[in-house]
Amino acid sequence: MSAIRLFKLSALILVSMTTISHAEGKAAEGEVLAREWCIRCHNVEPGGAFKQHPPSFAAIAAYRSDEQVYSRIMIPPLHSNMPQIVYVLMPENVDHLLAYIRSLEPK
Ligand code: HEC
Repeated sequence: MSAIRLFKLSALILVSMTTISHAEGKAAEGEVLAREWCIRCHNVEPGGAFKQHPPSFAAIAAYRSDEQVYSRIMIPPLHSNMPQIVYVLMPENVDHLLAYIRSLEPK
């Protein structure tokens, strides 16, 4: 197994071990973060258009589980334009972002 695969695997295990804390994220703080860090590429508005690239946060909320969203923020795929944002955000900020994305889920 290559070093990078091993790294990704251990990161994923770490991510799955920390999923319990998600409930504590605050959507209002997540919205502030989204407008600062994510709006450059993503549509972060409620009801954001679905068929676009990168996906709107509303579309992500509709189609992805918390675990999927969390791990895509923590470990974006190689060759993705998605920045390694986790190096500038505190872990609790990722929880806030997740709470905001979840709040956009269509009812
Ligand atoms: C420089 C542009 C850019 C910025 C800034 C950016 N993203 Fe992304 N993001 C992308 C692209 C392109 C994709 C689609 C490719 C991929 O999934 O890696 C993506 C995909 C994602 C996905 C996975 C979507 C899916 O299909 O499940 C999530 C979750 C996500 N971004 C969250 C965020 C959050 C949260 C922020 C702000 C902290 C952010 N992104 C900032 C470009 C960006």
